[in-house]
Amino acid sequence: MEIQKVMVIGAGQMGAGIAQVCAMNGYDVMLHDLKEEYVEKGLKGIRKQLQRQVEKDRISETDMERFMRQIHSSTRLSNAEEADIVIEAALENMEIKKNIFAQLDEFAPSHAILATNTSSLPITEIAAETKRPEKVIGMHFMNPVPVMKLVEVIRGLATSDETFNTVKSMSESLKKTPVEVNDFPGFVSNRILMPMINEAIYTVFEGVATPEDVDEVMKLGMNHPMGPLTLADFIGLDTCLYIMETLHEGFGDDKYRPCPLLRKYVKAGWLGKKSGRGFYNYS
Ligand code: CAA
Repeated sequence: MEIQKVMVIGAGQMGAGIAQVCAMNGYDVMLHDLKEEYVEKGLKGIRKQLQRQVEKDRISETDMERFMRQIHSSTRLSNAEEADIVIEAALENMEIKKNIFAQLDEFAPSHAILATNTSSLPITEIAAETKRPEKVIGMHFMNPVPVMKLVEVIRGLATSDETFNTVKSMSESLKKTPVEVNDFPGFVSNRILMPMINEAIYTVFEGVATPEDVDEVMKLGMNHPMGPLTLADFIGLDTCLYIMETLHEGFGDDKYRPCPLLRKYVKAGWLGKKSGRGFYNYS
């Protein structure tokens, strides 16, 4: 199946990144959010990213304007009627996602694939909201999307080979490396990453070392580009907590229990970089 028109639901950090990468690789993109101002904010971020590429002489001003023209804004889900694939990158909340997928199933043409960028929610359960579970799939991009090479492609129970192969080819056309994963809590990426971050938080909680020193150990000792606590702030502590809760509930094993310090920070509104405070201070 040939994909030309992509609709991206959610103009936040992930959605905007996905829209940018799709436009830069020749797709016609519709960037959707609930309000025009959210879409505008996403578009502004994309322009800023592209402007940096112009300054580094990687793309021309003309390319930048062409990519921007390829991204149209949307505030009506019914615009899905024009899409060959919809990539949902809305809030990590099962009820919200189910609601979006039920509506997309009504509006999108019958050939359209409905993909979700969820970081840990079950694809099979989201697919069950639609009458086309064979066309529902996980397409998990990493943050920052324009930089990170991986797309975890997650098969739900009913995902067809045709859907999988189309999404695999599309990921390659975005110059990403798709990796096939089955539908289990946290998939592969977050099943491994989040317990490491949670353990780093326990290390601070138990007074073993400061956040700076925990990060230094992992950067210098393990060659990680960012220490786990800087990364947690970058991902968002609310997202980290949500994923840990999904793992804890999904596997029922106490080794996934979120650290109380993580809960405390989230309750305090210390959500990391986006709120100005997390394990580090950004103000
Ligand atoms: N958006 C777009 N591009 C960005 C960016 C952003 N937010 N931040 C940095 N970059 C680009 C820079 O422009 C630069 O590009 P060039 O090399 O082409 O000039 C490149 O990334 C390197 O940037 P810097 O030199 O400023 O900084 P760095 O070397 O420290 O790299 C980083 C920044 C790529 C973010 C690096 O620190 C890194 O890889 N960190 C780990 C990121 C990671 O683990 N992501 C996965 C998070 S988990 C997830 O996303 C899934 C989930 O479900 C939670």
